[in-house]
Amino acid sequence: MSMSTFAFTPENNIFVQTHPLIQHKISILRDIHTGTNEFRQIAEEIAMLMGFQALEDLPLMDVEIETPIEKCTTQVLAGKKLCVVPILRAGLGMVNGITALVPSAKIGHIGLYRDEVTHEPHEYYCKLPSPIELRTIIVVDPMLATGGSACAAIDFIKARGGRHIKFLCIIAAPEGVERLHREHPDVKIYIGHVDRELNQNAYICPGLGDAGDRIFGTK
Ligand code: PRP
Ligand code: URA
Repeated sequence: MSMSTFAFTPENNIFVQTHPLIQHKISILRDIHTGTNEFRQIAEEIAMLMGFQALEDLPLMDVEIETPIEKCTTQVLAGKKLCVVPILRAGLGMVNGITALVPSAKIGHIGLYRDEVTHEPHEYYCKLPSPIELRTIIVVDPMLATGGSACAAIDFIKARGGRHIKFLCIIAAPEGVERLHREHPDVKIYIGHVDRELNQNAYICPGLGDAGDRIFGTK
């Protein structure tokens, strides 16, 4: 395991989940015997549980409504300012979990794949809602391994004007967390679990294998 120069704490914009429900569901994802159907469903559930925390600072505004009893002032989400951006492919498996919480969210897509030899990310698609400047943007990807894909995705978003960015992943390697925080210290990073290390193929250990293959049933 690499030695961090900083702690993985909220003071450093890093939020590591400890909730027992999330840990339980991550164990189901890790299990080699968990099939595609269940994997997909659980990934979505974890995204929803993590999204609940990551969206705790969404702005509210007052509205007047009438209950069956009387008129009152109550609060609703201010504007339709949320954008979810999955990193293709595996990030798609987390989108429904977030839109279940905020159905009005816009959805952008960034297509990246890791070169199998260099492990460097290559972009093949990018489509984001416009304008993006004022939106809260949640980038989702189940795996933060070397951090190359997450950093590249956030570079693209910032280059197109995105400013308020959060990153949600289910499993992270310490190396990836460090790189993402180093390159984008302004981005809040939400992590389901920090695993031990990367292996020589840049896979997370113990991890859950190839997230895209497990979500889409490919190999
Ligand atoms: C996986 C994963 C991340 C990336 C993480 O995608 O979903 O996007 O690897 O690795 P990194 O932190 O080292 O960049 P992959 O490139 O395998 O593409 P896929 O989702 O299409 O399978
Ligand atoms: N991408 C995955 O899907 N799994 C890993 O362990 C690392 C990168």
